[in-house]
Amino acid sequence: MTLHQIQAETRRCPEYTAAAIRCPREVRINIAVLASGSGSNLQALIDAPDLGAEIGVVISDRPEAPALERAERAGIATRIVEWGRFESRAEFSAAINSEIEAIDARGVVLAGFMRVLDENLVGRHLNRILNIHPSLLPAFPGSNAVGQALRHGVRVTGVTVHFVDEKVDHGPIIAQRAVPVLPDDDISSLHARIQVAEHELYPAVVRAFARGEIQVEGRSVTWG
Ligand code: GRF
Repeated sequence: MTLHQIQAETRRCPEYTAAAIRCPREVRINIAVLASGSGSNLQALIDAPDLGAEIGVVISDRPEAPALERAERAGIATRIVEWGRFESRAEFSAAINSEIEAIDARGVVLAGFMRVLDENLVGRHLNRILNIHPSLLPAFPGSNAVGQALRHGVRVTGVTVHFVDEKVDHGPIIAQRAVPVLPDDDISSLHARIQVAEHELYPAVVRAFARGEIQVEGRSVTWG
């Protein structure tokens, strides 16, 4: 085992502080997935073989989110933290944080989560919150990224997976995948093509993250 592999193992499995002791593959980190909508990215994570992580809970701000049904079908615990029940973003984020910490999540995976988390939560889990965005950031951040790309007339758009920082769709970029824009595309056809790429890329990134294979230094992210 190389020094680099030992370092990756001990990052993945901090209980094993003695670098010579190998963290067994069957020790999987717990992750929390946050989703507001259909949950097709959640489904891709559920279906991924060898994700290296246990989805301990799926949290949604919307009780009617189909993502919750997908979680229930897979036997995953669900929690609803409704935006409208809180006076402030700070209180909402604190309630989300309680659910994350209740399962001792080592990673938080945003999969179509439509609320901005406050800086307190982001700071507590710095470089452990992942987001997927349907454009090649820094192009077209914010809502309706697919429509923005179409209106701008780009020929290529894509998918970005990044760590979450205090600004929306801004944190260190982990991985990107380009997707062509075709002449007859509308929002729905382009988004469907982007989602095919999302469903491949997100599980691959979460797998690498769960194995401790992703390092961050400022905005620079390295794999391996
Ligand atoms: C995805 O396109 C993702 O990039 C964006 O929200 C959408 C969620 O889709 N953040 P789904 O709920 O995973 O199907």
